[in-house]
Amino acid sequence: MNLTDSPQAPRLTVEDLSVHYGGVCAVSNIGFTVEPGGSVGIIGANGAGKTSTLKALMGLVPRSSGRISLGDQDLSRTKARDMVRHGIGYVPEGRHIFPGLPVDKNLLLGAYARAWNKGTHQQLDEIYDLFPVLGEMRHRLAGALSGGQQQMLAMGRALMSSPRLLVLDEPSMGLSPKLVGSILDVLLKLREDGLSLLLVEQNAKLTFGVTSHCIVMENGEAVMDGSSAALSRDPRVREVYLGL
Ligand SMILES: Nc1ncnc2c1ncn2[C@@H]1O[C@H](COP(=O)(O)OP(=O)(O)OP(=O)(O)O)[C@@H](O)[C@H]1O
Ligand SMILES: [Mg+2]
Repeated sequence: MNLTDSPQAPRLTVEDLSVHYGGVCAVSNIGFTVEPGGSVGIIGANGAGKTSTLKALMGLVPRSSGRISLGDQDLSRTKARDMVRHGIGYVPEGRHIFPGLPVDKNLLLGAYARAWNKGTHQQLDEIYDLFPVLGEMRHRLAGALSGGQQQMLAMGRALMSSPRLLVLDEPSMGLSPKLVGSILDVLLKLREDGLSLLLVEQNAKLTFGVTSHCIVMENGEAVMDGSSAALSRDPRVREVYLGL
């Protein structure tokens, strides 16, 4: 059993995805593709519609339009609880760990969608290899962890379901530059291991460091779309999103 044992995720294709809250449009006809083992970023300011896009993808808010496919499987009507069975792991904004449970129990809850077996505990050890601090604190209550450690726990919990595509919503939020560096290292390792990544961030620098392709969202729309290398050289992106 290895985090990377599973085959690569098939291509994820999202087309014309829209989200409305009441009459208000939060996401308008967003589309992107994550190739097998590929990494795609969505950057944007507060309220741009990044979280709504991910929630609609995951089936956590109603999709008012859109087609979602993973390889030859149509997930356009798939509910949130079934996404994990398709190999899609989700690290939500704000982490949503269980503060009153110890670290190891939080991680084991991430494996609920798979049959528990000897491999589950082996996998726990692999998470501790990836995030040594979680191993050191395995019996501590999750609520006693620092923000950075809680983010690692949220990522570790999602990895316990053996995803082939990992969807992350602002993993760098509220973290020090040093911890953002640790998150970057882990994401690069996962990418190297062949996991597909979909990363939503306000931190454009982190996103360009991890992804090969990026979308810039403003007011629910994709206003730019291109290779991360090209976007990181774009004058407007440099000014607005990189503060250069
Ligand atoms: N449950 C909801 N009901 C009504 N409006 C919502 C809801 N959730 C989000 N919105 C609105 O939809 C828009 C997009 O919000 P969303 O959370 O998707 O943005 P975001 O890009 O993730 O922002 P942030 O960077 O602050 O997390 C915002 O105008 C927000 O106020
Ligand atoms: Mg958000």
